[in-house]
This record gives sequence, C-alpha cells and structure tokens, in this order.
Amino acid sequence: MHPAGYDRLQSQVIPGYGSLARLAVALLSSSPQAQIEGSSVLVAGCGTGAELLEAVAQRPDWRLTALDPSDEMLQASRDRLGEGVPIRWHQDTVEGFVAADAEAGGYAGALSVLVLQSLPDDGSKLAYLSALAQCLQLGAQLVLVDLMRSSLTSLEPQLDAAWDRFQRASGLDLTRDQLASEGLHPIGLARLTSLVNAAGFGDPARVFQALGFEGFLLQKRG
Ligand SMILES: C[S@@+](CC[C@H](N)C(=O)[O-])C[C@H]1O[C@@H](n2cnc3c(N)ncnc32)[C@H](O)[C@@H]1O
Repeated sequence: MHPAGYDRLQSQVIPGYGSLARLAVALLSSSPQAQIEGSSVLVAGCGTGAELLEAVAQRPDWRLTALDPSDEMLQASRDRLGEGVPIRWHQDTVEGFVAADAEAGGYAGALSVLVLQSLPDDGSKLAYLSALAQCLQLGAQLVLVDLMRSSLTSLEPQLDAAWDRFQRASGLDLTRDQLASEGLHPIGLARLTSLVNAAGFGDPARVFQALGFEGFLLQKRG
C-alpha cells in the first residue's frame, strides 16, 4: 500500500474512518493500565500515523512506540507527526520487533488498526497476535480494529450492496471483489476468538461495528 492518497481511500472504503483513530485511542486511554500517567503504548502498523496523531493529542503523557515494516508508511507517519514528538520509531513487524528485542515486553496497551486483516490465516495472523501479546503486561489491553467476515449470513447480500453503495456515494468505484484483490484476509468471530485465545488473550469484546469493520478490546490473560 502506498501512503499517497491512503487516508482518502480509507475514508471512502471504511464508514467512520475519520473518527476511527480517535475512538481507538479513547478506548485504550480508558483501560485500567493505559489510563495511568506516562504509560508505554505500542502502535502496531502505524501506517500514515492516524493513531499516533490522536494519541499525541489525547495522551501527550504516553510513551509511544510506532512500528511499521513499510519504509514509505513509516516515513509518511514521521513527516505527519513532525519533529520534536518523542516517539520510538521502528521499521519492523511486531513479530520482528519482539524477536529482536528481549525488552519488547511491558507495554501497558497496544493499538492494531486495520493490520490483522492483511495477514493470511496460515500462521501469520497467529504469529502477529502472539507477538502483540508478548509486548503487553499481564492484564493490559489491545484495541483491535479489523475487517471481519460477516456472521449474519442471511443479511450478507444486503450488507455487501450497502458497502458498494457507501463506496460509490463516497466517490469510489471498487467492488468488494476488487477490494479483496488488495490482499485482505478477513476472518469470522469464531476464528478470531480461537486465534486470540491461542495467542494469550481472553475472548474478544466487540465494542463497535460499521458494516464489516469491527472494533474489539482484548485483554492479555494472566
Ligand atoms: C491498512 S494499513 C493501516 C494503517 C493505520 N493503522 C490506519 O489505520 O490507517 C496496515 C499497515 O500495517 C502494516 N503491517 C503489515 N503487517 C504488519 C505486521 N506484521 N506488523 C506491523 N505492521 C504491519 C502495513 O505496512 C501497513 O502500513
């Protein structure tokens, strides 16, 4: 994915994208561990920096680490945040970050917005979630936002059509199949539950949904 035009495209595809990062940060900021002044927080797959910008605005006391394996995305994020914002930047996946740094644990919270959906369910999703769990303190929360496969099978045709209409009304002309060719690998709630449990989290608590885009709170089990 290229950063040029990324934010506009996301807002054409994702209902509520303009307030997604604000909501994700507000949710994590209210968690028992990350609400503490000066907490360390990990932003996984920071992309063009939407969550970082919000985190700095809402919680200037947080000690932020930003990860993204894409040089272009990380640079776009750094340019957007500007100089003088004390963020630890790493061009890496979460899996690579954990493997390279024995000190990677101890975070009071983490954000993963629209990242898991791009990883195939061939062990890659589990490796990503396990690495996130390793980064967190016991009881700390991960805010996970992702495109999910619908469990409302009887409503699926209507939801698909509504999503197509939403995109067209937003000025975009991509079908769900074309978007699928962008390398998205959505899973259903049962599969997500089994993956996050295997990774070391409790059951996902859904806190919001806009068509297929769902937000969950996950807590690292003790
Ligand atoms: C769709 S973008 C989302 C960016 C941002 N979170 C947002 O909501 O706009 C997904 C980002 O995740 C990054 N990514 C992909 N695999 C990753 C991994 N294993 N660990 C961390 N980041 C990853 C990609 O490089 C990309 O920048």
